Amino acid sequence: MPKLIVTTREGETRNIEAANGHSVMEAIRNAGIDELLAICGGCCSCATCHVYVEPDSAGELSAVSETEDDLLDSSDHRKAGSRLSCQIIMSDELDGLKVEIAPED
Ligand code: FES
Repeated sequence: MPKLIVTTREGETRNIEAANGHSVMEAIRNAGIDELLAICGGCCSCATCHVYVEPDSAGELSAVSETEDDLLDSSDHRKAGSRLSCQIIMSDELDGLKVEIAPED
């Protein structure tokens, strides 16, 4: 099972397992990290699952869709590496992916 390395808002780093086919958001929530609210449940309409992806920490991510891009633009905390974690689907290629949970908007 691919590993995901998550840094919380408090700066704690945890290695968690992320099942293939699950989103990064689901993996984080399933690991009991509840600061990632994910209010819309993963249907790309809330932006409360915002994370920063560390560049080159794993394989290539899927492209940012127009909807995801618009939602990220609505955040005061968007920066390079910003993604909505519900839109990144885990696979073996993404083993070792590092993400940091973005501040709450
Ligand atoms: S969970 Fe709502 S946009 Fe990701």
